[in-house]
Amino acid sequence: MPRPLSSWSGQRVVVTGAARGIGAAIAERLSTLGARVVISDRLDEQLHETAERIDAAPITGDVGTEAGVRAVVETAQAVLDDIDVWVGNAGVAAGSGLGAPEHDWDLSWQINVLAHVRAARLLVPRWLERGSGRFVITASAAGLLTILDQPAYAVTKHGAEAFAEWLAASYGHRGIDVHAICPQGVRTDMYPGPGEDPVADTIGHDGTLAPADVAEALVKTVSNGDFLVLPHPEVKDYFALRAADTDRWLRGMQRLQERIDEAGAQR
Ligand SMILES: NC(=O)c1ccc[n+]([C@@H]2O[C@H](COP(=O)([O-])OP(=O)(O)OC[C@H]3O[C@@H](n4cnc5c(N)ncnc54)[C@H](O)[C@@H]3O)[C@@H](O)[C@H]2O)c1
Repeated sequence: MPRPLSSWSGQRVVVTGAARGIGAAIAERLSTLGARVVISDRLDEQLHETAERIDAAPITGDVGTEAGVRAVVETAQAVLDDIDVWVGNAGVAAGSGLGAPEHDWDLSWQINVLAHVRAARLLVPRWLERGSGRFVITASAAGLLTILDQPAYAVTKHGAEAFAEWLAASYGHRGIDVHAICPQGVRTDMYPGPGEDPVADTIGHDGTLAPADVAEALVKTVSNGDFLVLPHPEVKDYFALRAADTDRWLRGMQRLQERIDEAGAQR
C-alpha cells in the first residue's frame, strides 16, 4: 500500500500528456496545491498555452520512444533539480476492431506501456537511493476490465495496470509509492462526444466525468494511500465481479456487444 501524501506543497512533479485533457487537469490541480509542476507533451503550442495558464514549466517531447522518454526525464530533472512524483499520463486510443493494423498495436504498446517502463528504469534507481519516489500511471478502467471495439487499447492498458502493480509489489517496501488511475469515460479529445461514435453512443455518455474529477480523485486517493484511483467508483464492483464470476461478467459484456451490433456499429 502506498504511503499517504497529505500535502503537495513543494512536491516536484512531472505530468506527461499534459497539454490538454486529464493530464492538464492533474497538473493544474497539483499546481494549485503548491506542487512545482513540469508538464510535457508532443503538442508544442497547446503545451505552452497550458503551462502559462496553470503556472507550470513546459517540456515539449515525445514519450513514444526510449530517447524521447530519456529527454523528458533528464530535462525535467534539470528544471526541478530532482523529481518526487512522476505522472505517466500520455496515452493513445489507436485502432478499432480485430482489423486494427500492426501500426496501431505498436503505437499503443510504445506509448501506453513502454513509456512507463522506460521512465521507471530512469527514475527508480535514484528513488531507491534516497528512499522515496511516487510513480503514477494513468491506465484506464479498460485495464481492469476491457473496452469493446478497441483491442489494442484494452490489452495495452492491462499492460499499464500490470506494470503499476509490478512496480508496487517490487519496490513498495523500499519507499516507492505507486498508483494506477483507472477511469471510465472522461470528456476529453480522446472520448467521442454524443453522435460521434456508435459504440460510445450505445454504451452511453451519462457516466462520463470531467478531467477535473479525475484530478480530484487522484488527490483524494493519494491522501488515503490507496493504489487504485477509481474516479468511477462502480469500477470496483465490476472488477470484483470479473474476478469472482468471470463468465457472468463476460456474458454482460457480450450482451453489450450485441446491443452495439444491433445499432450497426460492428467493425
Ligand atoms: N478520456 C477517457 O475517457 C479516458 C478514460 C480512461 C483513461 N484515459 C487515459 O487518460 C490519459 C489521458 O487521456 P485524455 O483522455 O486526457 O486524452 P487526450 O488525448 O486529451 O490526452 C492525451 C495527451 O497525451 C499526449 N500524447 C499522446 N501520445 C504522446 C506521445 N507519444 N508523447 C507525448 N505526448 C503524447 C497527447 O498529445 C494528449 O495531449 C490517457 O492515458 C488515456 O488513455 C482516458
